[in-house]
Amino acid sequence: MPSIIYIISLIIFLSWSRNIIVSAETWCYDTVNPIDQDNPTPVRCPAVTEKSDNIFHDVGINPGASTNMFDTSFTCDPTTSQTTCDKAKESFEKAGEIFTSVLSLNTPIRINASLIPLSDDTTLARLIPLKCKDKKIRNFPQSLVKQFQFSTHPEYAAVDIVAVFNSKCNFYFEGDPTITPDQIGFLELIVHEIVHGLGLVTNWKPLLNSKTVSELTPALNLTSNSDSTQPVVYYGFIETIFDSFIVTNAGDKFSNFTEQLNDFTPYGTKFQDQSAFISSFINSPEYNISQMVLSYSQTAYSMVFLADPHSELIWLESNINPYSKGSSISHFSMEIYDNTTDFLMTYIQHPGRSLETALQQNNATCIIGPKLLYLLETIG
Ligand SMILES: *[C@@H]1O[C@H](CO)[C@@H](O)[C@H](O)[C@H]1NC(C)=O
Ligand SMILES: *[C@@H]1O[C@H](CO)[C@@H](O)[C@H](O)[C@H]1NC(C)=O
Ligand SMILES: *[C@@H]1O[C@H](CO)[C@@H](O)[C@H](O)[C@H]1NC(C)=O
Ligand SMILES: *[C@@H]1O[C@H](CO)[C@@H](O)[C@H](O)[C@H]1NC(C)=O
Ligand SMILES: *[C@@H]1O[C@H](CO)[C@@H](O)[C@H](O)[C@H]1NC(C)=O
Ligand SMILES: *[C@@H]1O[C@H](CO)[C@@H](O)[C@H](O)[C@H]1NC(C)=O
Ligand SMILES: [Zn+2]
Repeated sequence: MPSIIYIISLIIFLSWSRNIIVSAETWCYDTVNPIDQDNPTPVRCPAVTEKSDNIFHDVGINPGASTNMFDTSFTCDPTTSQTTCDKAKESFEKAGEIFTSVLSLNTPIRINASLIPLSDDTTLARLIPLKCKDKKIRNFPQSLVKQFQFSTHPEYAAVDIVAVFNSKCNFYFEGDPTITPDQIGFLELIVHEIVHGLGLVTNWKPLLNSKTVSELTPALNLTSNSDSTQPVVYYGFIETIFDSFIVTNAGDKFSNFTEQLNDFTPYGTKFQDQSAFISSFINSPEYNISQMVLSYSQTAYSMVFLADPHSELIWLESNINPYSKGSSISHFSMEIYDNTTDFLMTYIQHPGRSLETALQQNNATCIIGPKLLYLLETIG
């Protein structure tokens, strides 16, 4: 970690402020099908104004709001046993209580969880674009936007977090007899996934659907009709609020990369179709930046999340080669945090280890580690 001192000295130059202006006319991105995370559907979410008495008293349908600000609707598929289903539901209750006790939430967070025979996945139900004080638009998870309690805000989707878990997986639930070596602790898993849902999520992904990844860019705003013969219009690349706190070991902010990528061509530039856009981008000098970010994402100790309140450095996962979508960048470094109090957000959860054991082994008192708390405090 030769660059750590350099980064510490950089901190004083970064002062982040979180005054957010809601732009009245916005598009949100809904992930309708959690399995198809790469193709969120743009939907209009016009500004709506809360009746003022709604703002502070909206405790949803959860009667236990004071101890659990999470309101989870839970679905099991018919092949899952009732016992398993009940245990899973109970785990969500526990997870909600954990978050409620460590975060200061003022607005309930709605989760739509289901246990069905599928691959594991969680998505934010809705990423909401908000204009930050630096005038840049970034994607915020709805669960976070709600906490700001804007009197005027983009229309919310019905749920904040959509979580789908594979019922075919061999889960261990709290209270079960001893965990077996191949079992995955369900509570740790869902708490991990909810943290993603609360905003530990990156928009830096491969742009092209090729077999080998050769570039990473933030989410592309390219408007088009469903009619693929129509021209497409470029409106820039958009990062998440999490992304705006990433800094490389050379001291470059990822936001700076986003900015440079956005200089690729002016907003509003029309392209004949999507492939015309792609070939133009690939042949631009800016394409190099997206290749560079890919290379950062595959180099150990190359990037940190610079947490605001305590100038904490949190090393992010950049040691998976080749880059792995869903694992790289949006996790804590495995090498550094696996056996620490911040074990939760590494990209691998140890099978055969219950949460209780994990806490004990890592000398942790809370599943939400101190660095993670700083991170959550910084983005929300
Ligand atoms: C994408 O571009 C459209 C057209 O300008 C704009 O209305 C919308 O807000 C942009 N989306 C985001 C997330 O910034
Ligand atoms: C929640 O998920 C279930 C099962 O996937 C679905 O049927 C239901 O419509 C979802 N509810 C909301 C509010 O999205
Ligand atoms: C962004 O990066 C460029 C190239 O390294 C540099 O010249 C510029 O000063 C940076 N801008 C900021 C705001 O850091
Ligand atoms: C990007 O451009 C720089 C300077 O021109 C060059 O040194 C570097 O090798 C390029 N990176 C990639 C990944 O092509
Ligand atoms: C953490 O500890 C476990 C169990 O002792 C070990 O298998 C694993 O390799 C350790 N992780 C790292 C990154 O050192
Ligand atoms: C656990 O934490 C306590 C208090 O900080 C410390 O004294 C102890 O050495 C730690 N134990 C291990 C195994 O890290
Ligand atoms: Zn994860």
